[in-house]
Amino acid sequence: MRVFVTGAAGFVGSRLSRALLDRGDDVVGFDNMNDYYPIEHKERHLADLCPDRKFTFIKGDLRDAELLRNLFAQHKPDTVAHLGGMAAVRYSIQHPLIYGEVNVQGSLNLLDAARLNGNPLCVIASTSSVYGVTTPIPFKEDAPADRPLAPYPASKRAMELLAHSHHHLFKLPVTCVRFFNVYGPQGRPDMMPWQWSVAISKGEQIKLYNAGKMKRDWTYIDDIVAGFVAALDKPLGYEIINLGCARPIENVEFVRILEGLIGKKANVVDTPAPPSEPIQTYADVSKAKRLIGYEPKVKFEEGLRRLVEWMRQEKIID
Ligand SMILES: NC(=O)c1ccc[n+]([C@@H]2O[C@H](COP(=O)([O-])OP(=O)(O)OC[C@H]3O[C@@H](n4cnc5c(N)ncnc54)[C@H](O)[C@@H]3O)[C@@H](O)[C@H]2O)c1
Repeated sequence: MRVFVTGAAGFVGSRLSRALLDRGDDVVGFDNMNDYYPIEHKERHLADLCPDRKFTFIKGDLRDAELLRNLFAQHKPDTVAHLGGMAAVRYSIQHPLIYGEVNVQGSLNLLDAARLNGNPLCVIASTSSVYGVTTPIPFKEDAPADRPLAPYPASKRAMELLAHSHHHLFKLPVTCVRFFNVYGPQGRPDMMPWQWSVAISKGEQIKLYNAGKMKRDWTYIDDIVAGFVAALDKPLGYEIINLGCARPIENVEFVRILEGLIGKKANVVDTPAPPSEPIQTYADVSKAKRLIGYEPKVKFEEGLRRLVEWMRQEKIID
């Protein structure tokens, strides 16, 4: 199978590409190598993938519709894994326009290139943030998800809706997978697990919203990759599927576990949560189990232990 992976230099895209190569697939990786976080992380991810003769890397931008059409005509992928895009809720508050340009228009460019080139199955990465604060808990895929709290989730929801219209009109098969806070080795340096590990290790301050009472459903990278691969292997028409852990962790508990792993006390300061942050995220994963056999395996304590161990190996923390 030949898979076109957007965001192949990023956290999830690189780990997915690795898993696909390991099982013998050809991977055409696509990424614009932006500097939203330091580019050396992306270069390190590519250094792992590029020596594989089944991996081809193309530096390009999702906003370039013609480039995407040409690449699809040239490489004729069997499936498309769409992980490229602007992530992060908070950055989107300061820079809303690029979320429209990349996550909405860029995703549409990709879907359109796919429908013009044989309608390969597209699995596209969305987010639990689309559920906002009005959704009953645990979050089920049929909840309205029409009250996003920031440009980032709004742009991802728009992407899901455009994907539906391409499915309806052109029969493009699309599965939207909504990730719930992904973490693990080679994770993103802008995300909480990385930032808090560094802060605790160096004795720096951690801001804890709402006295640490907020909960997030942290999902280990290997579980996300397994779910994504299962979705790539099974055309479903048009579906939206949660990929979470189904075990929300309170932020105070998160800090307590990290303190134990790092062996230092956190320097915590209590701060009110910004309006972009829901109080909790919690995935109902029964649909994922039913449709693609998804079953999250890695417990949070174990996943965090693996992350801390990796950060020590990489000398990011002591
Ligand atoms: N990590 C999470 O917790 C999480 C949660 C929910 C959803 N997601 C989604 O999953 C996907 C992967 O997330 P990640 O954590 O690996 O993020 P990441 O930032 O590490 O990876 C995204 C990649 O997309 C690339 N990219 C950005 N704009 C591009 C453009 N215009 N053209 C081509 N490439 C571009 C970036 O250079 C980056 O390498 C994203 O779409 C993100 O929104 C992630």
